[in-house]
Amino acid sequence: MRRTDYFLPTLKEDPSEAQIVSHRLMLRAGMVRQSAAGIYSWLPLGLRVLRKIEEIVREEQNLAGAIEVLMPTLQPAEIWRESGRYEDYGKEMLRITDRHQRDLLYGPTNEELITQIFRDSVRSYKELPRNLYHIQWKFRDEIRPRFGVMRGREFLMKDAYSFDIDETSARTAYQKMFIAYMRTFDRLGLRAIPVAADTGPIGGDLSHEFIILAETGESEVFCHADLLSRAAPDADYDGDLATVIEPFTSLYARSDEMHDAALFEAEVPTDKQVRARGIEVGHIFYFGQKYSGPMGCRVAGADGKEVDVHGGSYGIGVSRLVGGIIEACHDEAGIVWPWAVAPFQIGVINLKPGDEQTDALSGKLYAHLTQKGLDVLYDDRNERAGGKFSDMDLIGLPWQAVIGPRGAAAGEIEIKNRKTGEKRSLDFEAACALLASPPPSDPPSASPAAQDKA
Ligand SMILES: Nc1ncnc2c1ncn2[C@@H]1O[C@H](COP(=O)(O)OP(=O)(O)O)[C@@H](O)[C@H]1O
Ligand SMILES: [Mg+2]
Repeated sequence: MRRTDYFLPTLKEDPSEAQIVSHRLMLRAGMVRQSAAGIYSWLPLGLRVLRKIEEIVREEQNLAGAIEVLMPTLQPAEIWRESGRYEDYGKEMLRITDRHQRDLLYGPTNEELITQIFRDSVRSYKELPRNLYHIQWKFRDEIRPRFGVMRGREFLMKDAYSFDIDETSARTAYQKMFIAYMRTFDRLGLRAIPVAADTGPIGGDLSHEFIILAETGESEVFCHADLLSRAAPDADYDGDLATVIEPFTSLYARSDEMHDAALFEAEVPTDKQVRARGIEVGHIFYFGQKYSGPMGCRVAGADGKEVDVHGGSYGIGVSRLVGGIIEACHDEAGIVWPWAVAPFQIGVINLKPGDEQTDALSGKLYAHLTQKGLDVLYDDRNERAGGKFSDMDLIGLPWQAVIGPRGAAAGEIEIKNRKTGEKRSLDFEAACALLASPPPSDPPSASPAAQDKA
């Protein structure tokens, strides 16, 4: 993409409404604009990141056997009356009346709708287990929307729903999602801690929140330090999954609501005790027959008797992750994108548009990298070098390739690693080879799922 053809309204000044770094940087880097409190438009640069995150989430859901659907944002109130949640949900639910005076709502979540679909389509245990997911906008009329996309009112969520014949099978569905989540966050360049969460009246050990550490996070976490260095599991979903997640679930990790100070002291050695703030980026939950019971979602079991199916739901805050990744990956100068989600992997800076040799070498590099399938932003604007450098640092592309008249005359390109600041001058061939892969400083986790399958 040529910068002169692009829509990238970066800001020089810090916007006064932004309290945390990710919100500030998203506005400054021209990624989003607020439309109303907690409601955002995604501008081209922000949308690229959102789509990349979405795709990684999707790949890992598919790998774990979940099947994609797409449910609407608007739902009829009727099914929420069936489950008993229409009144309970309270003011966070945006209620709408259509021209025929029918009650609709903007979905804050989709348990009811997916249960209705499943109930009306599935009759036999032979069609279980199934896990259906979608990636769709949600609306929750949060009392205090804040921190930009982090706590929005309209936000993009991946939500999956599992259907199983009994609790044992539901446990396997849960474990698959647990593994898929660890892998997803790892590929996004994040270290997420699975913390035990409240299961409400159902009880048991089948609810976890996935939290990434950040000072600005709204959650408080208490955990064993070893959880911060555990690598994500392989995508092998056929083996004994309990064993695979055991290294994560056996160590103490709880958020403030579930924290037990005495147990923490007893279970975690003093030098391993981590008390930190974090951002909830995912939440998985087994709820049993909570919706299937009242909504009549039942199938015939092997013995012919009807059973209410066992359900679980599994959410990832896709739009929140954009902010979450920035909280984890930035420096004084701006964002430092992990390769896997960078809006462009490479920024080419032409220091002197109009200079024949500089234009030729910059154009050649841009064309070559683009043809290789890399995402390249080519800053060909006729502006001061200082402004271009600071803009490029601000938007945080992993590699920068700088070409000026002197380098162009010598056939040299200066490559900068955005994260480390390390610079080196290379000829065309060497530059192209280096720019085709993630900077060595990038977390190794940012590898495509294909590598695991091979
Ligand atoms: N207001 C919001 N803005 C952005 N993301 C949100 C918001 N509320 C929830 N999410 C994301 O969706 C995921 C699933 O939501 P859920 O656990 O149902 O929400 P909550 O924890 O607020 O009850 C959360 O882990 C979070 O990442
Ligand atoms: Mg939650």
